[in-house]
Amino acid sequence: MDLPESIESRLKTYTELRKLIVVSGLGQGTQGSVVVCSNLSQQHVAVKFHERSNAYFRERDVYLRLSDLEITHVQGLRVPILVHFDDDLLAIEMTIVSPPFCLDFGGAYLDRPPDYTPEVWRDWREQKCEDFEENWPVVQEILAEFESFGIYIADVNPGNIRFRNNT
Ligand SMILES: Nc1ncnc2c1ncn2[C@@H]1O[C@H](COP(=O)(O)OP(=O)(O)O)[C@@H](O)[C@H]1O
Ligand SMILES: [Mg+2]
Repeated sequence: MDLPESIESRLKTYTELRKLIVVSGLGQGTQGSVVVCSNLSQQHVAVKFHERSNAYFRERDVYLRLSDLEITHVQGLRVPILVHFDDDLLAIEMTIVSPPFCLDFGGAYLDRPPDYTPEVWRDWREQKCEDFEENWPVVQEILAEFESFGIYIADVNPGNIRFRNNT
């Protein structure tokens, strides 16, 4: 598994603290690296190590909200369940989900949408409509349900809201 140097030492500390065994890499995105680990009960979990603290705290707070509200699905899509987090290591441990899923809340805002100008919102909508093609109406319903929980997801893309294994 090829991990950035900035993550290696945090991964080591985190797995020691949590008594986890590293199994494999799961994904690498713009905000962090996600690793599959096995816990003492031999269940697999995903641990996401963020590069930057602001995205980490945004994502952590969204998972805490979802956890408070006991949300496991949104419009039938699976949402990972928060297992543990570490503010010093910028690590979020969660269950592993398979598509259809919705995850990655580093670009999500609590209780109010980001203050984009109307022009930025217009371009945002046009871009998302293009990215999701025929799924865009369904994605809008998903976003509306998240908003009913006070969660405003700005960073929506087909990698984060995935309907099938290959999309
Ligand atoms: N809990 C999870 N269950 C299943 N796959 C996951 C999980 N967390 C991350 N992934 C996979 O790893 C990829 C990168 O994770 P993500 O949270 O989107 O990182 P980034 O914020 O860097 O985009 C995701 O697109 C997804 O394929
Ligand atoms: Mg992502």
